[in-house]
Amino acid sequence: MTLHTELATMMNSINQTFQLGGEIEINRLGYGAMRLTGQPGNFGPYADWEQGITLVRRAAELGVNLFDSARSYGPEWTDKLLGEALHPYAAQIVIATKGGIDKPAPGNIQVDGSPATLKKQIDEALVNLRVDRIDLFQLHRVDPQTPIEESIAALKEAQTAGKIRLIGLSNVDRSQLDRALAIAPIASIQNRFNQEERGQDALVDYTAEHGIAFIPYGPLGAHPMKQGAALPAQSALAWLLRRSPNIVVIPGTTSITHLEENWATWELLAADASRLPVVSQ
Ligand SMILES: NC(=O)c1ccc[n+]([C@@H]2O[C@H](COP(=O)([O-])OP(=O)(O)OC[C@H]3O[C@@H](n4cnc5c(N)ncnc54)[C@H](OP(=O)(O)O)[C@@H]3O)[C@@H](O)[C@H]2O)c1
Repeated sequence: MTLHTELATMMNSINQTFQLGGEIEINRLGYGAMRLTGQPGNFGPYADWEQGITLVRRAAELGVNLFDSARSYGPEWTDKLLGEALHPYAAQIVIATKGGIDKPAPGNIQVDGSPATLKKQIDEALVNLRVDRIDLFQLHRVDPQTPIEESIAALKEAQTAGKIRLIGLSNVDRSQLDRALAIAPIASIQNRFNQEERGQDALVDYTAEHGIAFIPYGPLGAHPMKQGAALPAQSALAWLLRRSPNIVVIPGTTSITHLEENWATWELLAADASRLPVVSQ
């Protein structure tokens, strides 16, 4: 099926929101903060810090209420930027961050999902984000040295201690998700998926059946370490938002114009699905 036909035939309207963990309502277009870091390598603080603060506040003003961050972005710098931009937090704002990966130098990715490291990273994220409790804490990647059950048990302990509200996963397959589900409820998974990279189709459907949010990263097909969307943004977002009601998109941008365009796409789809963008390729 060509993209033209595909979009033109999708005429029913989309759900505007998703109940994260069955308990927090979020708009299905959020914001991914990874690019508000030093370049190259998403390392260090974002060079134009004040512009980053303005952009995040503009997102909240538009109605974006899910902000996605991670320990490894900077590292710690996007958590700090979100904390500075959004604290004191409006009631509807939902902060998602991640742990289990650190980045002591550009290009040096250290995966550590041990309970002691996750506990330390949660405590540091609470300070950086200026929150008493993190709404969604995602295991960024499964540590090959630590059984996923041990990592999830540590997150469950943090949940019981009131430090995190919901637990999410990232970069997991079906069997890892099932192993995690045996330990604790899982609110979301975040894997790479977009109009041209559809390897997660089965997991999108499986998570939908279980009421778990599927948060595709790289929704516009961008390379994680390079600037620039590979796909036309409007149709890429429209395709994902139509694909399944549990998909929540978090396009990353450093541009307020692009932020506003992405939000407008969500509004357009939510208000009148018959005005879907139709793109021929
Ligand atoms: N869990 C993981 O392992 C993982 C990995 C990677 C990313 N993520 C998360 O997913 C989020 C999104 O991923 P991503 O940033 O890599 O990829 P993306 O959202 O597919 O693409 C971002 C790129 O697209 C451009 N862009 C955004 N809106 C645009 C528009 N309307 N028109 C034209 N270009 C546009 C941005 O450039 P401008 O700045 O110029 O707008 C940026 O370079 C990240 O921020 C992060 O939160 C998670």
